[in-house]
Amino acid sequence: MITTSRPGGPGLDERSLRDAFGTCPSGVVAVCGLADGVPVGMAVSTFVPVSLDPPLAAICVQRTSRTWAVLRTLPALGVSVLAGGHEDAARALAARDGDRFAGLAIDTTPEGAVHVLGGPTRFVCSLEAETGAGDHLIATLRIHTARAEPAIDPLVFHRSGFARVSRPREGNSR
Ligand SMILES: Cc1cc2nc3c(=O)[nH]c(=O)nc-3n(C[C@H](O)[C@H](O)[C@H](O)COP(=O)(O)O)c2cc1C
Repeated sequence: MITTSRPGGPGLDERSLRDAFGTCPSGVVAVCGLADGVPVGMAVSTFVPVSLDPPLAAICVQRTSRTWAVLRTLPALGVSVLAGGHEDAARALAARDGDRFAGLAIDTTPEGAVHVLGGPTRFVCSLEAETGAGDHLIATLRIHTARAEPAIDPLVFHRSGFARVSRPREGNSR
C-alpha cells in the first residue's frame, strides 16, 4: 500500500498508481556503454529532454538496478531512441538473465558509448548529476552529440505495453 504524503489524502495502492502512470505514453531508449570492453545496457522509458543550454536530459532508474550501478561509472553513455519494430530489443535490454545484446545490431563510439542501430536518434552522454527520488534516482545526463533521423518513427511504451506512432496518411491530415 502506498499512501499519499498529504495528511488526510486518500490512500493509493501500487496497482492504481502503476495504471495511472501507464496512461502517459513515453518513448523507450537504450542506455548502453562499454565496461571493460563488454557492452552493458538497459531499456528505459523515463527519458526526458531537460535543457537546451547546457544540453541536458534525464532518466529515472530504480535504486536497485545492478545495470545502472555499472553504467553510472562509465565515462560515456550511448542513449539510443528505439524505433517502432524494436520491441524485441527493448525486451532483451530488460532481461534478467542472459546476454542482453545477443542478436542486437550495435555500434560503439571511440569514447565507449554503445548505440542500438536503427532508431531515430543517438546521443552520446555522460552522467552529470544524480538525485534521489523515492525508490528511483533521477540521473541528469549531459549530451555531447546528438544524431537524429526524424523520419524513423519511435517505439512507444503505453499501458505497460508497446505501441507505435500512427500518422494520418499524407494529404489527409486536416
Ligand atoms: C519498456 C521498458 C522500460 C523500462 N524503463 C525503465 C526505467 O525507466 N527505469 C528503470 O530503472 N528500469 C526500466 N526498465 C527496466 C530495465 O530495463 C531492466 O529491466 C532493469 O534494469 C533490470 O534490472 P537490473 O538493472 O538490476 O539488471 C524498463 C524496461 C522496459 C522493458
